[in-house]
Amino acid sequence: MRPAKQGESWKKSLGTAFLVASVVYCVVWGFRGAFGRLRSPGCSGKHALPTSYTLPSGDKIPSVALGVWRAEKGKVGDAVKTALNAGYRHIDGAWIYGNEAEVGEALKESGVPREDIWITSKLWNDFHAPEDIEPVLDESLSRLGTDYLDLYLIHWPVAFKKGKIPREVDWDLTNNSYPTWQKLEELVEKGKIRNIGVSNFNIRRIQNLTANPLKIKPVINQVELNYWNPQPELLKWSKQNGILLEAYSPLGSAERVKETLQVPEVKKIARVLGITPAQVYISWHVQRGTAVLPKSVTPSRVEENLQITRLPEHLFDLLENAANSHKPVRSVDPHWGVDIWH
Ligand SMILES: NC(=O)c1ccc[n+]([C@@H]2O[C@H](COP(=O)([O-])OP(=O)(O)OC[C@H]3O[C@@H](n4cnc5c(N)ncnc54)[C@H](OP(=O)(O)O)[C@@H]3O)[C@@H](O)[C@H]2O)c1
Repeated sequence: MRPAKQGESWKKSLGTAFLVASVVYCVVWGFRGAFGRLRSPGCSGKHALPTSYTLPSGDKIPSVALGVWRAEKGKVGDAVKTALNAGYRHIDGAWIYGNEAEVGEALKESGVPREDIWITSKLWNDFHAPEDIEPVLDESLSRLGTDYLDLYLIHWPVAFKKGKIPREVDWDLTNNSYPTWQKLEELVEKGKIRNIGVSNFNIRRIQNLTANPLKIKPVINQVELNYWNPQPELLKWSKQNGILLEAYSPLGSAERVKETLQVPEVKKIARVLGITPAQVYISWHVQRGTAVLPKSVTPSRVEENLQITRLPEHLFDLLENAANSHKPVRSVDPHWGVDIWH
């Protein structure tokens, strides 16, 4: 072998140093990416699951949120702080959850800049009348300690007459959400909301709404999506129509989570990939092209739920087929005298 000249050995050392540095960089970024804090576009590559979706407004909504429905007072604040510390930047709340003040306090105490966090709230059924919307939105803003929401959703396609006990359905506003929507558009123009959408709307209801001359189209529909109720037709139609679905009750909600985590196909996928069944589901949701909103007030689970990974195609298909091969069952199905789902 020919001894290397001085110049060549210098180049060789530089090359080796570059190689070592690249490997270290990718390992470190890969490690941090795996824990959901940061992702390097260079190393996570096209095979990583999306960490956010870009909406027509140009805003980027993080793909995984902490859901706070039934996150009890006294626990929800710590859950929010744990989540932000673990790398979440998306909190899914609602006026009706009754915990916005504690969420707001935790957001402030976390020290994470407001503009780095995606905050969603929802308009409750009692307040669909246009004149009732801004006051209740202001209440949410003040409790959350912010002057704008990233996303405000019509929580249900059901309007109640305000202040009636027992509850009375307002059929005009239930059958026609346009007056409510027009007010939301006005509040976007006023700068109190950045994006608007709906929740629990089926295709027919979205079409009824979008048949009006809207200034802003609904960009998001938050619906139940899980192993028991995977809604493949709604998912396909929403993608074709530029509406992002958000998967609520992604683990089957509190009543079914144990059973959900025991599904044999999911246990198998978890074993093969060395991840937990909850991580399999949360990854599956993002891989289906939806945002996902797992709720937990348990610190280890909050952290666990952010660590998602792309499932190999055959394992993704295994779960997709299993979820689609039984009769769909809803976990959240309130009975208010309105046929919500048809
Ligand atoms: N728009 C709507 O009408 C609507 C309706 C329902 C829900 N949502 C949104 O969706 C969010 C999530 O839905 P959800 O709360 O019904 O149900 P979910 O997220 O499917 O399940 C929550 C349950 O799973 C448990 N859990 C969470 N992570 C776990 C893990 N890694 N391992 C084992 N158990 C785990 C939680 O327990 P711990 O908390 O005790 O850890 C809790 O009991 C809500 O918080 C809310 O933001 C919206």
